[in-house]
Amino acid sequence: MCGIFGYIGKKDPIPICISGLKQLEYRGYDSAGIAGIFQGKIRSCKEAGKIARLEKKIHQEHLNLEFAIGHTRWATHGKPTDQNAHPHFDDKSTIALVHNGIIENYQTLREQLQSEGVRFLSETDTEVIAQLIGKFYENDLLAAVQKTLPLLRGSFAIALIHANHPDQIVAAARQSPLSIGFDDEHSESIVSSDPNAFLISTPNVLFLRNDEIALVQANRIRVFNSQLQHIDKKIERLENDYQAPSKGGFEHYLIKEIFEQSSTIQKALIGRLNEEKATIDFEQFSLSDETLKNVSNIWILGCGTSAHAGWIGTMFFEDIAHVPSSVEIASEARYRNPLLTPNTLVIAISQSGETADTIAAMREAKQRGCKVLGICNVANSTLSREADSTLFLKAGPEMSVCSTKAFSSQVAVLSLFALHLASLKGLGKDEMRRYFNELKKISGHIQQVLEKASLLQTIAKKYAHYDDFFFIGRRYMVPTGLEAALKLKEISYVNANGYPAGELKHGPIALINQKFPVVAFCANEQTHEKIVSNLMEVKARGAPVLAFAPEGAHGISNIVDDIFTLPPCIDPFAPFASIVAGQLLSYYIAKERGCDIDQPRNLAKSVTVE
Ligand code: AGP
Repeated sequence: MCGIFGYIGKKDPIPICISGLKQLEYRGYDSAGIAGIFQGKIRSCKEAGKIARLEKKIHQEHLNLEFAIGHTRWATHGKPTDQNAHPHFDDKSTIALVHNGIIENYQTLREQLQSEGVRFLSETDTEVIAQLIGKFYENDLLAAVQKTLPLLRGSFAIALIHANHPDQIVAAARQSPLSIGFDDEHSESIVSSDPNAFLISTPNVLFLRNDEIALVQANRIRVFNSQLQHIDKKIERLENDYQAPSKGGFEHYLIKEIFEQSSTIQKALIGRLNEEKATIDFEQFSLSDETLKNVSNIWILGCGTSAHAGWIGTMFFEDIAHVPSSVEIASEARYRNPLLTPNTLVIAISQSGETADTIAAMREAKQRGCKVLGICNVANSTLSREADSTLFLKAGPEMSVCSTKAFSSQVAVLSLFALHLASLKGLGKDEMRRYFNELKKISGHIQQVLEKASLLQTIAKKYAHYDDFFFIGRRYMVPTGLEAALKLKEISYVNANGYPAGELKHGPIALINQKFPVVAFCANEQTHEKIVSNLMEVKARGAPVLAFAPEGAHGISNIVDDIFTLPPCIDPFAPFASIVAGQLLSYYIAKERGCDIDQPRNLAKSVTVE
């Protein structure tokens, strides 16, 4: 799974492909590679590690190409080595191919090809595609691709070139996104996993659907169905709001993005609170009031951080809108048999809008006749194009793999949507305005936490040498604690277990000792006394305890080893300040431990395989 990018036109393809790949690095950074044609021959360069290393190698090797395809990889099949880096080739080295997806039957195909004498150079599933196309090739590249696709099980977006066809890139897709763009003069064409990586400001774009094959030339793009019949594709014009990524003077994107949250929260709310009418106004929102009034239950889908935000969302829907709701990890959702009715509203949450599990689960729900509301940060993403309606976070690009500002904005948008539903279902204007007032305080609460970042840095120094942690909380603080634990394990490689505090005594408390600190999220008023008892229980077993608690919270400071105080806040909105404190703690611990903070090992910003 990965990002693929190809360029054909009058310009030097190498810097364009490198810039495109850098835009796609969120899809993986285990290795990168590029291939193209120069004087009738395939030439390539690939390297384990990030794109910067590939760039250096290209320079050292004085690579020249007439047009090119490139790849940035998140390893699925085979270690992240030079050999497993894409592009992959056929036996005769006449074809070079890049792939995003997983070929589920690659073992069988590989054994079959090997028994016919084909030699494989990598451990990847991708190589079978290049070898099959090579096997079927008889001077007609499209026909060879057409014969190959039905043999593949799984998902793919591919781009390939052939030495005998030095004026074309062939592309095809199934269940993986692939967009093809061109400029207004149609002097150049681009193939990319994500249209946001086109460095053209308003490209003309078409999206390949399942088993479609495209023949891409500099001045012409033709698309065919699986029978090789020509299809007239809809061309869309995208507004690419490209902003060059910047750390804005911060050492890492992560800390910059944590600090952005006092303003990104405002961006999520701005223009959406109609104080005069005490209603929520969403722009370009196409789910009618009638549809929403009839919603009987809500099923939220997401992965990782987005699923944690969804969990908080379920509480908003129950507490504020009184609508039954549940959250499901998207990779599990599509294999369940949920009892969905036409009145079930499905909410698919994804920062990137490209997470394969979330998209697959969303498609499943749509097939079952449910309306899908997307909550997403990235315009033009697959999720935002396929959902019935999408609410955008407006948080700006999130560059660090570790998601921070997207989480707080997702929670903010979920709270707005819960209020919208509540008002449609009859919540009084006074009550709505009471929530508005609380929402308007959030940015200030976050700012107060950010102003005490240096205190968290000092606390982090004290806790950075521990290898195991529990993160506990109750009610709204359960998903908040789980999210904070995910931050720590993701960027510090520390074993951080998120648990509902009341659940510890049912087994996990056996792990507690002096080397197993507990980070307790205590900002839930309703369960205050209960969490105090839980703190006593872990303290009695010797755990060092750090509490995140509201100023003046009764009975905590005398139990715990360290306390970081938070601005007091109503329970539903307490996750905001609490999570910012948790994010800062994780950041400073990772820094103490010398980790690769923005691009942690083994991860990708967006996971585009199921
Ligand atoms: C969070 O820090 C993660 N990197 C990860 O859990 C992420 O939230 C998950 O992969 C889902 O991504 P999405 O929101 O882009 O769908």
